[in-house]
Amino acid sequence: MILIVSDRKDIQAYYVMVELDTLGIAHSLFNVADFPTKSSVSQVLGNTSDHCSITVDGGSIIRASDVTAVWYRKPDPPKMRQDIDPDEREFTFHEIHSGVQGLYDALGHARWMNPIEQVRISSNKLKQLRLAARLGMQIPRTIFTNDEREARKFVDSIDCKVVYKPIGGRYLGTRSGPWEELIVTREIYTTLLDESTIDAGLQRLSMCPALLQQHIEKALDIRVTVVGDKAFSAEIHSQTTPETTIDWRRGKDPSALEHKAHELPPHVERQCLDLVKSLALTFGAIDLVKGKDGRYYFLEINPNGQYGWVEDLTGLAINKAIAGHLANSGGRRS
Ligand SMILES: Nc1ncnc2c1ncn2[C@@H]1O[C@H](COP(=O)(O)OP(=O)(O)OP(=O)(O)O)[C@@H](O)[C@H]1O
Ligand SMILES: [Mg+2]
Repeated sequence: MILIVSDRKDIQAYYVMVELDTLGIAHSLFNVADFPTKSSVSQVLGNTSDHCSITVDGGSIIRASDVTAVWYRKPDPPKMRQDIDPDEREFTFHEIHSGVQGLYDALGHARWMNPIEQVRISSNKLKQLRLAARLGMQIPRTIFTNDEREARKFVDSIDCKVVYKPIGGRYLGTRSGPWEELIVTREIYTTLLDESTIDAGLQRLSMCPALLQQHIEKALDIRVTVVGDKAFSAEIHSQTTPETTIDWRRGKDPSALEHKAHELPPHVERQCLDLVKSLALTFGAIDLVKGKDGRYYFLEINPNGQYGWVEDLTGLAINKAIAGHLANSGGRRS
């Protein structure tokens, strides 16, 4: 049995389920947001027994002991009932959260794509850049600092332009607790700096540290989706419209940009596979750029990045590879 941990909006989960059906492998979807309102989880512990089961909304019961592989996507947090008193929300949220963590622990025998703890550790962009450089990948020169003088020294030492980009998430907004959805007020993109934005920005560093990076003159953006020991590379023609030149996500419809399957030089492909392996992951969405100098630069890796649009626009068979990888964990035929 393969358990997919995700949410209702996750179209990719449904595509992978179709591929698992083709392989004849039993699977179930656990929408974390449905717990505890629409699905139930029971964990019965004793000195000689340990049973954990999930009942999903269709009424089917999944025994944790039957699960051979877990595909952990990016589930929404559990949704609490609306009628809970405001002063009970924090308490309730932590009870629910702890229960879900207990469920994940009960699935510890299964093969996880990806292990949750590794997702957390691997998500740090400074760690990623350090590791990529150690593996021999080309990285843009980078500083993360709250020290104005160090930042100025960095900017002055670079003989090209500099970009600013966030490292902890790109959305600004408000919410009163982790159980509520963020009300997004703004999105921060990779931004090319000029003298005046550098001066203004450096003065704010004691309020919020920042990542500055050598601006790479790009030929292409490249997305490499790694599944186990396979790498699926796609080129994104980001330099064809002015608004997508610095950050291709700024376009009105980024999927309107030309996308094509891309053949990476074998050593770069090897480095991408090694990076994912070194982070103890089996899935990773890696952002590279191909510079006008012909070099491939590593930017970042998302351990649970999206890939659906890459498959739609290029035909690269990523869903099939994911299903195959999950099935190889010894999932029982349905
Ligand atoms: N040093 C750089 N030079 C030129 N372009 C860059 C640089 N860093 C990022 N970009 C561009 O910014 C966009 C987003 O890049 P990247 O994935 O590194 O940003 P991010 O904010 O870390 O993204 P995510 O939200 O996916 O975590 C891409 O179009 C990429 O080419
Ligand atoms: Mg990215």
